[in-house]
Parts: sequence; C-alpha cells; structure tokens
Amino acid sequence: MSDPGRQLMPVLRLAPAKVNLTLAVLGRRPDGFHDLHSVFVPLELADRLSLAPGGSSGEDSLHVEGPDTGPLADNLVLRGIAAARAAIGAGPGRPATPALAARLEKHIPVAAGLGGGSSDGAAAFDGALEAWGAEGALDEDRRRRAAASIGSDVPFFLGAGSIAAAGAALVQGRGERVLPVVGITGEPGILLVTPQVAVRTPDVFAVFAGTQVSGDGSVRMTSEHLAQELTSGLSADGLIARAGVLAVANDLLAAAGLVAPGLVAVRRALMRVLKRPVGLSGSGPTLWTLYPSRTEAESAATVVRAAIADGAIPSIGDGPPAVIASTIRAGRRPAHEEVSP
Ligand code: C5P
Repeated sequence: MSDPGRQLMPVLRLAPAKVNLTLAVLGRRPDGFHDLHSVFVPLELADRLSLAPGGSSGEDSLHVEGPDTGPLADNLVLRGIAAARAAIGAGPGRPATPALAARLEKHIPVAAGLGGGSSDGAAAFDGALEAWGAEGALDEDRRRRAAASIGSDVPFFLGAGSIAAAGAALVQGRGERVLPVVGITGEPGILLVTPQVAVRTPDVFAVFAGTQVSGDGSVRMTSEHLAQELTSGLSADGLIARAGVLAVANDLLAAAGLVAPGLVAVRRALMRVLKRPVGLSGSGPTLWTLYPSRTEAESAATVVRAAIADGAIPSIGDGPPAVIASTIRAGRRPAHEEVSP
C-alpha cells in the first residue's frame, strides 16, 4: 500500500515494439473479436514514457514528441493511466491516485502493426501504479483484466508481472492469454518497412471475416510448431532457417492486401530487392525481414532506402515507407540455466 507522506517520483518506462512471427485467426467470437494463436516477440525499438506528478488542473495530461499519434484523448497512455486508477478504485485504505503528467517520445511507427500504442498503454498502466506507490494494489487477475480493457495487445506488453519482463510469448484468445516462452536465444536483426498507408485493424478483421470464417489450417500448424520450438528456445540461425515459412504464416495477409492494395506490390518489390522472405506484422502495414544480426539488417535498410529513392520499391499512400533496422530482444533463458552458478 502507498505511504501518504511519500513524494511522488517521476517514473520512466521503455515501451518496446512487437512483431508477430505467426498470426493464426481461429474464428470469430460472440463478442465480435477473433480468437488468435500468435507468437509475439518484443523488439529493441521502443518508445520512451515518463510520468510525473501532474499540474494544478487536476487532470492527467500528455505531451507527445515525434510523429502525430492522433487525438490525445484516444491515446492509450491516457487510457492506461485511467484504467490503472479505475482498477485501484477509491475509498479508505486505497492508494491515492493523483493526476499525472505524461511525456511520450515516439519512435515506433504509429498504427503500423507493431503494437506501439498498446505498448505505450501498458507502460502507462504499469508506470502509473509505480508512480502512486500502488504496485501491490492489484492481484494478477485484476491486473490482467484491466490490461485487456485497454486493448487486445496490452496483456502481452504487461508481461508476467512487470513491463521489463515482456518477452516472447504465445498469445491466444483475443490477446488476453499470454504464455511466456523462452523465445529466441540470440539477437537476430529485423528490418521493418512501414508503407505510409492507413490499414485499420478493425477493417482488416472485417474483410477477413467477410471472406473466411477461419484461416486455413496451415498457419495454425506453423504457429503451433513455432510456439512449441520456442518453449525451449530457438537460435537466431534456427529462426532465419524458418523465415520462409513464417513470412506466410499470417492469416491477415490477404485481407490487409485488400484493405491497402498497394501493400502487395511493396511486399513483392521488397522480396525482389532483398532476395529474402518478407512477412507482415499483425494486421500491417509493417513488413518484416529477418537477419542474423542487427548489422546485416542495417545494411539491408541502406539497400531498401536506395531502392525507394530510385522507385524500385513503390511509395504508396502519404510518402516513402519508413525503414527501421532493429533487433529481436533476446528471450528468457531456460529455468535450469538461470539457477546455474
Ligand atoms: O482490442 P483492439 O482495440 O486492439 O482491437 C481493435 C479491433 O481489432 C477490434 O475492434 C476488432 O475489430 C479487431 N480485433 C479482433 N480480434 C482480436 C483483436 C482485434 O477482431 N483478437
């Protein structure tokens, strides 16, 4: 419980991006969402969030540095703080939840299928609890339910108890069932290419639902197989060897291509230029390519920027695609390794 005399301290959080290495859509649920089977991995690419005691207005505030994230009221940072406050509740013995001033430094492309908004929301939820000295105020079940109320991808980013623990996971249900796995036991590089087109997640799921009731079983098989392999860990080389299969293991690929027709041409052009498999993260529009190291992903980024400049890779929508080289964050080590001296 919080100490009423305690000074509220600024809290800093890194909010990592994710990619879906697989995404199987199992079917539509009565609540309108879809049941998924998806392997999520966190990236080094991250937004930075700071939370400090709020101003005199008595309301939470948010300042965003970087690309336009849309209306502030819809920002998942403010929704994350509000969800934390609501989950704690009010009344005698409850920690005080004074207003917070949030500053968000955006590095993750917005509405890109990289989970940036959800990660910011998870960081805000977790950070607000810490700022209020209320880390212990919620049991795991209330924490998870509150997280899911912010958005489907938020439970993944909250990890098992702390944002710092967000690691590779098998994500099921609507996104609320997060099973941590050992993950990738190296640090493979990843190239992210985000065309500047709006691909709204609800639109992609709606197109998917209109064309199919569930994905074709092959994506689910690939996803189950990868999740199984990641429970004991997979090396970076092992991951690269599976890149061709993983690049087509996304049931939303065709629907995303229908929502944003130019996406198909960008993906084909990338495969031609890079001579490697290219996958789609989430509902897109970000396209990913795996490399053994970050250095190789950075070299590929240079090649892609040149290909965009000379038109070999088309610029669709509002301008040239964003090109970012990053790293898949190392997974957890198996428990028996953690206890060895
Ligand atoms: O929960 P979130 O706000 O991220 O979801 C955005 C939209 O994506 C939902 O309104 C729904 O249309 C779709 N969705 C879905 N099934 C999921 C996750 C999202 O149908 N598992």
